[in-house]
Amino acid sequence: MFRQLADSGSPSFLVYIDGSETVARPGDTVAAVLLRTAPGIARHTPVGETPRAPYCMMGVCFDCLATVDGETSVQTCLVEARPGMRIQRQKGKVRITP
Ligand code: FES
Repeated sequence: MFRQLADSGSPSFLVYIDGSETVARPGDTVAAVLLRTAPGIARHTPVGETPRAPYCMMGVCFDCLATVDGETSVQTCLVEARPGMRIQRQKGKVRITP
């Protein structure tokens, strides 16, 4: 459903979403990478396990929460992707990383 509009020509790099290699480019937020990567969701809700996808892309809706490099409930729309980042879609209840 989502794809990058234009290739900036910048060298791409790999991040890992749920253990799978995924291509990201400089300037991508983690949420943008999640949206481009099937099934395009960031988490499942804790109670009903409903899939949620990044929505506002500006830190308001909290639908983009995911685990990034071991830190849980990160607002991925506010975090720029970096090479080698390990991202996990959250499923159900998670412990908050202190
Ligand atoms: S997409 Fe809404 S807070 Fe990140």
